[in-house]
Amino acid sequence: MPHNTLTAQETEAELDLEQLQQLVGLVDYDASTDPFPVSGWDAIVFVVGNATQTAHYYQSVWGMELVGYSGPENGNRDHKAFVLKSGSIRFVVKGAVAPDSALVTHHAAHGDGVVDIALEVPDVDKCIAQAERAGATVLDEPHDVADEHGKVRIAAIATYGQTRHTLVQRVIDGRRYDGAYLPGYTAAQSTYVKRDGAPKRLFQALDHIVGNVELGKMDEWVGFYNRVMGFVNMAEFIGDDIATDYSALMSKVVANGNHRVKFPLNEPAIAKKRSQIDEYLDFYQGPGAQHLALATGDILRTVDELRKEGVEFLSTPDAYYEDPELRARIGQVRVPVEELQKRGILVDRDEDGYLLQIFTRPLGDRPTVFFEIIERHGSLGFGKGNFKALFESIEREQDKRGNL
Ligand SMILES: [Fe+2]
Repeated sequence: MPHNTLTAQETEAELDLEQLQQLVGLVDYDASTDPFPVSGWDAIVFVVGNATQTAHYYQSVWGMELVGYSGPENGNRDHKAFVLKSGSIRFVVKGAVAPDSALVTHHAAHGDGVVDIALEVPDVDKCIAQAERAGATVLDEPHDVADEHGKVRIAAIATYGQTRHTLVQRVIDGRRYDGAYLPGYTAAQSTYVKRDGAPKRLFQALDHIVGNVELGKMDEWVGFYNRVMGFVNMAEFIGDDIATDYSALMSKVVANGNHRVKFPLNEPAIAKKRSQIDEYLDFYQGPGAQHLALATGDILRTVDELRKEGVEFLSTPDAYYEDPELRARIGQVRVPVEELQKRGILVDRDEDGYLLQIFTRPLGDRPTVFFEIIERHGSLGFGKGNFKALFESIEREQDKRGNL
Protein backbone atom coordinates (compact mmCIF):
# COMPACT_ATOMS: atom_id res chain seq x y z
CA MET A 1 0.00 0.00 0.00
CA PRO A 2 1.62 3.30 -1.04
CA HIS A 3 2.01 5.85 1.71
CA ASN A 4 0.35 9.19 1.76
CA THR A 5 2.37 12.30 1.22
CA LEU A 6 1.63 15.69 2.70
CA THR A 7 -0.16 18.24 0.55
CA ALA A 8 1.63 21.55 0.02
CA GLN A 9 -0.84 23.28 2.33
CA GLU A 10 -0.13 20.76 5.09
CA THR A 11 3.64 21.10 4.66
CA GLU A 12 3.33 24.87 4.83
CA ALA A 13 1.27 24.51 8.01
CA GLU A 14 4.04 22.31 9.48
CA LEU A 15 1.73 19.36 10.02
CA ASP A 16 2.96 15.78 9.78
CA LEU A 17 1.28 12.58 8.65
CA GLU A 18 0.95 11.18 12.14
CA GLN A 19 -0.82 14.34 13.28
CA LEU A 20 -3.14 14.18 10.30
CA GLN A 21 -3.97 10.57 11.01
CA GLN A 22 -5.07 11.71 14.45
CA LEU A 23 -6.69 14.97 13.39
CA VAL A 24 -8.73 13.87 10.39
CA GLY A 25 -8.39 10.06 10.20
CA LEU A 26 -6.12 10.08 7.16
CA VAL A 27 -5.55 6.60 5.67
CA ASP A 28 -3.15 5.12 3.10
CA TYR A 29 -4.62 4.13 -0.23
CA ASP A 30 -3.58 3.32 -3.77
CA ALA A 31 -4.24 6.37 -5.97
CA SER A 32 -3.02 4.59 -9.12
CA THR A 33 -6.31 2.70 -9.53
CA ASP A 34 -8.49 5.70 -8.58
CA PRO A 35 -10.49 6.99 -11.58
CA PHE A 36 -10.79 10.44 -9.94
CA PRO A 37 -7.79 10.96 -7.62
CA VAL A 38 -8.24 13.79 -5.12
CA SER A 39 -5.26 14.96 -3.05
CA GLY A 40 -7.28 16.96 -0.55
CA TRP A 41 -9.20 20.20 0.03
CA ASP A 42 -8.08 23.18 -2.02
CA ALA A 43 -10.29 25.96 -0.67
CA ILE A 44 -13.76 26.51 0.71
CA VAL A 45 -15.33 29.48 -1.02
CA PHE A 46 -18.06 31.43 0.77
CA VAL A 47 -20.35 34.05 -0.71
CA VAL A 48 -21.25 36.56 1.99
CA GLY A 49 -23.12 39.85 2.27
CA ASN A 50 -20.06 41.75 3.43
CA ALA A 51 -16.71 40.12 2.69
CA THR A 52 -14.74 43.01 4.16
CA GLN A 53 -16.26 42.48 7.58
CA THR A 54 -16.42 38.68 7.33
CA ALA A 55 -12.67 38.57 6.60
CA HIS A 56 -12.08 40.62 9.73
CA TYR A 57 -14.29 38.25 11.76
CA TYR A 58 -12.34 35.18 10.65
CA GLN A 59 -9.11 36.86 11.68
CA SER A 60 -10.15 38.44 14.96
CA VAL A 61 -12.44 35.68 16.21
CA TRP A 62 -11.30 32.48 14.48
CA GLY A 63 -7.58 33.30 14.49
CA MET A 64 -7.18 32.92 10.73
CA GLU A 65 -4.49 34.65 8.76
CA LEU A 66 -5.12 36.83 5.73
CA VAL A 67 -2.88 35.70 2.86
CA GLY A 68 -4.48 36.83 -0.38
CA TYR A 69 -6.83 39.37 -1.90
CA SER A 70 -8.63 40.18 -5.10
CA GLY A 71 -10.75 43.30 -5.63
CA PRO A 72 -11.11 46.61 -7.44
CA GLU A 73 -7.57 47.63 -6.41
CA ASN A 74 -6.09 44.85 -8.53
CA GLY A 75 -8.51 44.95 -11.41
CA ASN A 76 -11.42 42.84 -10.13
CA ARG A 77 -14.30 45.31 -10.32
CA ASP A 78 -16.95 42.63 -9.71
CA HIS A 79 -16.26 41.60 -6.11
CA LYS A 80 -13.85 41.54 -3.22
CA ALA A 81 -12.34 38.20 -2.22
CA PHE A 82 -10.20 37.56 0.86
CA VAL A 83 -8.09 34.40 1.25
CA LEU A 84 -7.69 33.22 4.84
CA LYS A 85 -5.69 30.33 6.31
CA SER A 86 -5.52 28.32 9.48
CA GLY A 87 -3.28 25.26 9.44
CA SER A 88 -4.00 23.46 6.17
CA ILE A 89 -7.43 25.09 5.76
CA ARG A 90 -8.02 27.78 3.20
CA PHE A 91 -11.20 29.85 3.17
CA VAL A 92 -12.04 32.37 0.46
CA VAL A 93 -14.79 34.87 1.29
CA LYS A 94 -16.36 36.77 -1.57
CA GLY A 95 -18.74 39.71 -1.52
CA ALA A 96 -20.16 41.70 -4.45
CA VAL A 97 -18.83 45.16 -5.26
CA ALA A 98 -20.62 45.71 -8.58
CA PRO A 99 -24.39 46.07 -8.09
CA ASP A 100 -24.94 43.74 -11.06
CA SER A 101 -22.48 41.06 -9.87
CA ALA A 102 -23.76 37.48 -10.08
CA LEU A 103 -22.87 37.25 -6.39
CA VAL A 104 -25.71 39.67 -5.57
CA THR A 105 -28.26 37.28 -7.03
CA HIS A 106 -26.63 34.30 -5.32
CA HIS A 107 -26.59 36.05 -1.97
CA ALA A 108 -30.18 37.25 -2.32
CA ALA A 109 -31.31 33.66 -2.84
CA HIS A 110 -29.14 31.83 -0.32
CA GLY A 111 -27.72 34.29 2.18
CA ASP A 112 -24.19 33.66 3.46
CA GLY A 113 -23.05 30.18 2.49
CA VAL A 114 -20.59 27.89 0.76
CA VAL A 115 -20.64 28.19 -3.02
CA ASP A 116 -17.61 26.09 -3.89
CA ILE A 117 -15.90 23.15 -2.19
CA ALA A 118 -12.71 23.25 -4.24
CA LEU A 119 -10.51 20.16 -4.28
CA GLU A 120 -6.86 19.78 -5.19
CA VAL A 121 -6.30 17.08 -7.79
CA PRO A 122 -3.10 15.83 -9.42
CA ASP A 123 -4.69 15.59 -12.89
CA VAL A 124 -7.68 17.77 -13.79
CA ASP A 125 -8.14 16.28 -17.27
CA LYS A 126 -8.30 12.73 -15.90
CA CYS A 127 -10.96 13.78 -13.39
CA ILE A 128 -13.09 15.62 -15.95
CA ALA A 129 -12.89 12.70 -18.39
CA GLN A 130 -14.16 10.43 -15.61
CA ALA A 131 -16.87 12.97 -14.61
CA GLU A 132 -18.10 13.13 -18.20
CA ARG A 133 -18.13 9.33 -18.55
CA ALA A 134 -20.17 9.13 -15.34
CA GLY A 135 -22.66 11.75 -16.48
CA ALA A 136 -21.73 14.66 -14.17
CA THR A 137 -22.48 18.25 -15.14
CA VAL A 138 -19.23 19.94 -16.12
CA LEU A 139 -19.59 23.67 -15.35
CA ASP A 140 -16.13 24.66 -16.46
CA GLU A 141 -13.98 22.69 -18.90
CA PRO A 142 -10.27 22.23 -18.02
CA HIS A 143 -8.21 25.31 -18.83
CA ASP A 144 -4.97 26.94 -17.70
CA VAL A 145 -4.79 30.20 -15.82
CA ALA A 146 -1.42 31.86 -15.36
CA ASP A 147 0.38 34.86 -13.96
CA GLU A 148 3.97 35.69 -13.02
CA HIS A 149 3.84 33.02 -10.26
CA GLY A 150 3.19 30.20 -12.66
CA LYS A 151 0.26 28.22 -13.95
CA VAL A 152 -2.69 26.25 -12.56
CA ARG A 153 -5.15 24.12 -14.46
CA ILE A 154 -8.75 24.23 -13.30
CA ALA A 155 -12.21 22.88 -14.12
CA ALA A 156 -15.48 22.60 -12.20
CA ILE A 157 -18.33 20.15 -11.79
CA ALA A 158 -21.75 20.71 -10.24
CA THR A 159 -22.82 19.04 -7.02
CA TYR A 160 -25.98 19.49 -4.89
CA GLY A 161 -27.98 22.72 -5.25
CA GLN A 162 -25.96 25.71 -6.42
CA THR A 163 -22.76 24.22 -5.00
CA ARG A 164 -19.79 23.31 -7.17
CA HIS A 165 -16.50 21.46 -6.92
CA THR A 166 -13.76 23.39 -8.59
CA LEU A 167 -10.86 21.04 -9.32
CA VAL A 168 -7.47 22.66 -9.05
CA GLN A 169 -4.23 21.19 -10.39
CA ARG A 170 -1.39 23.19 -8.87
CA VAL A 171 1.56 21.24 -10.30
CA ILE A 172 2.02 21.48 -14.07
CA ASP A 173 5.10 20.05 -15.83
CA GLY A 174 6.72 19.49 -12.45
CA ARG A 175 6.32 23.11 -11.35
CA ARG A 176 4.01 24.16 -8.52
CA TYR A 177 2.17 27.47 -8.76
CA ASP A 178 3.69 29.69 -6.08
CA GLY A 179 1.32 32.68 -5.89
CA ALA A 180 -0.87 33.61 -2.92
CA TYR A 181 -3.85 31.57 -4.13
CA LEU A 182 -4.77 31.70 -7.81
CA PRO A 183 -3.89 34.04 -10.68
CA GLY A 184 -5.88 37.26 -10.15
CA TYR A 185 -5.07 37.34 -6.44
CA THR A 186 -2.27 39.27 -4.82
CA ALA A 187 -0.51 38.36 -1.58
CA ALA A 188 -2.03 40.20 1.37
CA GLN A 189 -1.07 40.66 4.96
CA SER A 190 -3.35 41.28 7.84
CA THR A 191 -3.24 44.57 9.67
CA TYR A 192 -5.09 42.85 12.51
CA VAL A 193 -2.87 42.37 15.58
CA LYS A 194 -3.55 39.30 17.74
CA ARG A 195 -4.10 39.71 21.46
CA ASP A 196 -1.13 38.94 23.69
CA GLY A 197 -1.12 35.25 24.52
CA ALA A 198 -3.51 34.31 21.72
CA PRO A 199 -2.63 30.86 20.32
CA LYS A 200 -0.93 30.63 16.94
CA ARG A 201 -4.02 28.97 15.51
CA LEU A 202 -7.29 27.56 16.78
CA PHE A 203 -7.70 24.74 14.30
CA GLN A 204 -5.33 22.85 12.01
CA ALA A 205 -7.29 21.06 9.32
CA LEU A 206 -10.71 20.59 7.78
CA ASP A 207 -12.26 17.26 8.72
CA HIS A 208 -15.56 17.10 6.83
CA ILE A 209 -18.30 19.15 5.19
CA VAL A 210 -21.90 18.04 5.54
CA GLY A 211 -24.33 18.54 2.67
CA ASN A 212 -28.08 18.86 3.24
CA VAL A 213 -30.15 17.55 0.34
CA GLU A 214 -33.89 17.20 -0.25
CA LEU A 215 -36.09 14.39 1.01
CA GLY A 216 -35.39 11.22 -0.97
CA LYS A 217 -32.21 12.57 -2.57
CA MET A 218 -29.53 11.32 -0.18
CA ASP A 219 -28.91 8.02 -1.97
CA GLU A 220 -28.77 9.83 -5.29
CA TRP A 221 -25.93 12.04 -4.03
CA VAL A 222 -24.14 9.14 -2.35
CA GLY A 223 -24.35 7.46 -5.77
CA PHE A 224 -23.01 10.61 -7.44
CA TYR A 225 -19.90 10.64 -5.26
CA ASN A 226 -19.41 6.86 -5.70
CA ARG A 227 -19.90 6.86 -9.47
CA VAL A 228 -18.43 10.21 -10.53
CA MET A 229 -15.65 10.75 -8.02
CA GLY A 230 -14.86 7.20 -6.89
CA PHE A 231 -15.60 8.09 -3.25
CA VAL A 232 -16.09 5.20 -0.84
CA ASN A 233 -18.87 4.79 1.69
CA MET A 234 -17.85 5.09 5.32
CA ALA A 235 -19.41 2.93 7.99
CA GLU A 236 -21.46 5.64 9.63
CA PHE A 237 -25.07 5.21 8.71
CA ILE A 238 -27.86 7.01 10.46
CA GLY A 239 -31.49 6.16 10.17
CA ASP A 240 -34.34 5.92 12.62
CA ASP A 241 -32.06 5.66 15.60
CA ILE A 242 -31.55 9.40 15.63
CA ALA A 243 -35.15 10.42 15.29
CA THR A 244 -36.28 12.70 18.07
CA ASP A 245 -39.92 13.37 18.87
CA TYR A 246 -40.16 16.19 16.38
CA SER A 247 -37.59 15.73 13.71
CA ALA A 248 -35.40 13.15 12.12
CA LEU A 249 -32.84 12.79 9.43
CA MET A 250 -31.03 10.19 7.45
CA SER A 251 -27.30 10.46 6.89
CA LYS A 252 -24.62 8.58 4.97
CA VAL A 253 -20.96 9.42 4.62
CA VAL A 254 -18.69 9.26 1.57
CA ALA A 255 -14.94 9.90 1.53
CA ASN A 256 -12.14 10.15 -1.00
CA GLY A 257 -9.47 7.43 -1.04
CA ASN A 258 -7.15 8.98 1.57
CA HIS A 259 -10.11 10.16 3.73
CA ARG A 260 -8.95 13.76 3.76
CA VAL A 261 -12.21 14.74 2.09
CA LYS A 262 -15.32 13.43 3.84
CA PHE A 263 -18.87 14.34 2.95
CA PRO A 264 -21.71 13.27 5.21
CA LEU A 265 -24.97 13.76 3.29
CA ASN A 266 -28.21 14.42 5.15
CA GLU A 267 -31.80 14.29 4.05
CA PRO A 268 -34.82 15.06 6.20
CA ALA A 269 -36.90 12.15 7.43
CA ILE A 270 -40.60 12.22 8.09
CA ALA A 271 -41.38 13.24 11.66
CA LYS A 272 -44.06 14.95 13.68
CA LYS A 273 -42.71 18.39 12.89
CA ARG A 274 -40.26 19.95 10.44
CA SER A 275 -36.72 18.76 10.93
CA GLN A 276 -33.61 20.94 11.14
CA ILE A 277 -32.81 19.81 7.58
CA ASP A 278 -36.17 21.16 6.36
CA GLU A 279 -35.45 24.45 8.10
CA TYR A 280 -32.09 24.63 6.34
CA LEU A 281 -33.59 23.80 2.93
CA ASP A 282 -36.24 26.51 3.38
CA PHE A 283 -33.83 29.24 4.39
CA TYR A 284 -31.03 28.32 1.99
CA GLN A 285 -33.69 27.79 -0.69
CA GLY A 286 -32.39 24.38 -1.59
CA PRO A 287 -29.57 21.95 -0.87
CA GLY A 288 -26.23 23.25 0.35
CA ALA A 289 -23.34 22.85 2.77
CA GLN A 290 -24.69 22.63 6.31
CA HIS A 291 -21.60 22.48 8.50
CA LEU A 292 -17.84 22.44 8.27
CA ALA A 293 -15.93 20.46 10.87
CA LEU A 294 -12.66 22.08 11.93
CA ALA A 295 -10.12 19.72 13.50
CA THR A 296 -8.08 20.73 16.52
CA GLY A 297 -5.67 18.90 18.80
CA ASP A 298 -6.97 20.79 21.85
CA ILE A 299 -10.71 21.35 21.76
CA LEU A 300 -10.81 22.76 25.31
CA ARG A 301 -8.43 25.56 24.47
CA THR A 302 -10.08 26.23 21.09
CA VAL A 303 -13.54 26.45 22.61
CA ASP A 304 -12.33 28.66 25.48
CA GLU A 305 -10.64 31.06 23.05
CA LEU A 306 -13.65 31.18 20.75
CA ARG A 307 -16.02 31.81 23.68
CA LYS A 308 -13.80 34.70 24.80
CA GLU A 309 -14.34 36.19 21.36
CA GLY A 310 -18.09 35.80 21.63
CA VAL A 311 -18.68 32.68 19.53
CA GLU A 312 -21.91 31.00 20.61
CA PHE A 313 -22.16 27.22 20.77
CA LEU A 314 -25.22 25.02 21.00
CA SER A 315 -25.93 24.17 24.58
CA THR A 316 -25.96 20.59 25.79
CA PRO A 317 -28.38 19.61 28.52
CA ASP A 318 -26.80 18.69 31.88
CA ALA A 319 -28.78 15.49 31.62
CA TYR A 320 -26.41 14.44 28.81
CA TYR A 321 -23.44 14.41 31.20
CA GLU A 322 -25.31 13.10 34.22
CA ASP A 323 -26.71 10.12 32.32
CA PRO A 324 -24.98 7.04 33.79
CA GLU A 325 -25.15 5.47 30.34
CA LEU A 326 -22.92 8.21 28.95
CA ARG A 327 -20.04 7.29 31.23
CA ALA A 328 -20.48 3.61 30.41
CA ARG A 329 -20.66 4.41 26.69
CA ILE A 330 -17.63 6.72 26.47
CA GLY A 331 -15.26 4.98 28.90
CA GLN A 332 -11.96 6.74 29.55
CA VAL A 333 -11.35 10.06 27.75
CA ARG A 334 -8.37 12.41 28.07
CA VAL A 335 -10.19 15.03 30.15
CA PRO A 336 -12.64 14.76 33.06
CA VAL A 337 -16.29 14.76 32.00
CA GLU A 338 -16.77 17.84 34.23
CA GLU A 339 -14.42 19.83 31.95
CA LEU A 340 -16.47 18.80 28.94
CA GLN A 341 -19.74 19.62 30.68
CA LYS A 342 -18.50 23.12 31.61
CA ARG A 343 -18.03 23.80 27.92
CA GLY A 344 -20.88 21.74 26.47
CA ILE A 345 -18.49 19.46 24.54
CA LEU A 346 -19.97 16.15 23.37
CA VAL A 347 -18.20 12.77 23.40
CA ASP A 348 -18.71 9.74 21.22
CA ARG A 349 -16.94 6.41 21.11
CA ASP A 350 -16.81 3.59 18.60
CA GLU A 351 -14.66 0.49 18.13
CA ASP A 352 -11.68 2.55 16.94
CA GLY A 353 -11.58 5.20 19.66
CA TYR A 354 -13.41 8.35 20.63
CA LEU A 355 -14.01 11.91 19.51
CA LEU A 356 -14.89 15.20 21.16
CA GLN A 357 -17.10 17.67 19.30
CA ILE A 358 -19.17 20.82 19.67
CA PHE A 359 -21.32 22.84 17.26
CA THR A 360 -21.68 26.59 16.88
CA ARG A 361 -24.94 28.38 16.32
CA PRO A 362 -25.53 29.49 12.69
CA LEU A 363 -22.78 31.85 11.52
CA GLY A 364 -24.97 34.28 9.64
CA ASP A 365 -28.47 35.70 9.84
CA ARG A 366 -30.22 32.70 8.31
CA PRO A 367 -30.38 29.41 10.23
CA THR A 368 -28.13 27.67 7.69
CA VAL A 369 -24.37 27.13 7.75
CA PHE A 370 -22.44 26.57 11.00
CA PHE A 371 -19.16 25.09 12.26
CA GLU A 372 -18.28 22.02 14.27
CA ILE A 373 -15.06 21.80 16.28
CA ILE A 374 -13.76 18.23 16.44
CA GLU A 375 -10.90 16.50 18.27
CA ARG A 376 -10.42 12.88 17.18
CA HIS A 377 -8.77 10.16 19.24
CA GLY A 378 -8.85 7.20 16.90
CA SER A 379 -12.55 7.31 16.13
CA LEU A 380 -13.35 7.64 12.44
CA GLY A 381 -16.99 8.41 13.19
CA PHE A 382 -18.95 11.62 13.10
CA GLY A 383 -20.67 11.54 16.48
CA LYS A 384 -23.58 9.28 15.67
CA GLY A 385 -24.17 8.63 19.37
CA ASN A 386 -24.51 12.36 19.92
CA PHE A 387 -27.05 13.01 17.21
CA LYS A 388 -30.03 12.61 19.46
CA ALA A 389 -28.54 14.80 22.20
CA LEU A 390 -27.56 17.35 19.59
CA PHE A 391 -30.90 17.42 17.82
CA GLU A 392 -32.78 17.98 21.00
CA SER A 393 -30.53 20.95 21.60
CA ILE A 394 -30.97 22.27 18.02
CA GLU A 395 -34.72 21.90 18.29
CA ARG A 396 -34.84 24.07 21.39
CA GLU A 397 -33.15 26.78 19.30
CA GLN A 398 -35.44 26.17 16.32
CA ASP A 399 -38.42 26.48 18.64
CA LYS A 400 -37.13 29.89 19.87
CA ARG A 401 -37.10 31.08 16.25
CA GLY A 402 -40.68 29.84 15.80
CA ASN A 403 -39.70 27.33 13.09
CA LEU A 404 -40.51 24.05 14.81
FE1 LIG B 1 -20.07 16.85 11.61
